[in-house]
Amino acid sequence: MTKEEMYNDIRRWKKEKNAVILAHYYQNDDIQEIADYVGDSLALAQTAAKTNADIIVFCGVHFMAETAKILSPEKKVLLPNLNAGCIMADMINAERLKAYKEKNPDTIVMVYVNSTAEVKALSDICVTSSNALKIIDHYANLGRKMLYCPDQNLGKYAMDLKGYNFDVWPGFCRIHHNLDTTMVERMKKAHPNALFVAHPECQLPVLKMADYVGSTKQLIEYVTASDAKEFIVGTEQGVLYEMKKRNPNKTFIPLSKTLICGQMKMTTLKHLYECLKEEKNEIIVDEDTRIKAKNCLDKMLELS
Ligand code: 13P
Ligand code: SF4
Repeated sequence: MTKEEMYNDIRRWKKEKNAVILAHYYQNDDIQEIADYVGDSLALAQTAAKTNADIIVFCGVHFMAETAKILSPEKKVLLPNLNAGCIMADMINAERLKAYKEKNPDTIVMVYVNSTAEVKALSDICVTSSNALKIIDHYANLGRKMLYCPDQNLGKYAMDLKGYNFDVWPGFCRIHHNLDTTMVERMKKAHPNALFVAHPECQLPVLKMADYVGSTKQLIEYVTASDAKEFIVGTEQGVLYEMKKRNPNKTFIPLSKTLICGQMKMTTLKHLYECLKEEKNEIIVDEDTRIKAKNCLDKMLELS
């Protein structure tokens, strides 16, 4: 079957089934091309919360589809490849977070959206890379003790930038965490006119070398608004699809060839095709957990 034939069936089923396809910017290009909405974690959560579709096919990783289900329980939420997880989300679990909370009962638990429903259910507020600084400011101004989990890098970046001091969980995203300053120096030397943009999941010394730090959506908006013509990109290479689409006359160079999230790339057009055709791989969240996790996500959406 050709790509166009698959697209035609997908478009037809979308209408017949009143389905919507959401995709993250790290997805394969042929998925981004057919998706109804492509976005960062926050934009996709907001879209999932307000869509009128009966079926949400979420092309991303498990926590993203789960977030959509938490926010839209009456909808059928499908994940084309159920094996697509997030290595950072797996670096924290409910038992370990419960143990932390027992020792630190006065601490506000801020959880990165890259986490399971069980972990969100134990947390006070959720954040994503596009609103974390704003929400951290909010609680810091209230004089609250805080835990930022599970991404140590975004937490350390916020502390350094704002002069705050709070606990961070030792989790990280291997794809971003493995970047180092030598790579940035080498690339800046090879492309002296390029600006360097980076995702806050990179380590602090790398972020300090960046001209701009932001979520995937914010990075795309920054390179689009900028007068510069060349950019070194410190995040997963999937963002290059939208960067090039919006800026055909600009050049985008990945900071490293290793900037590929194997979990995000697990979803193929064939997975999407079969998932929508058969309406399979439905995400189910236990109702008690869902209500608690929704509370934590609703607080984020209010403050965003
Ligand atoms: P964004 O929220 O910036 O889209 O990031 C999601 C993610 O998984 C980054 O690794
Ligand atoms: Fe998770 Fe890292 Fe992949 Fe983002 S890039 S989904 S944090 S493993």
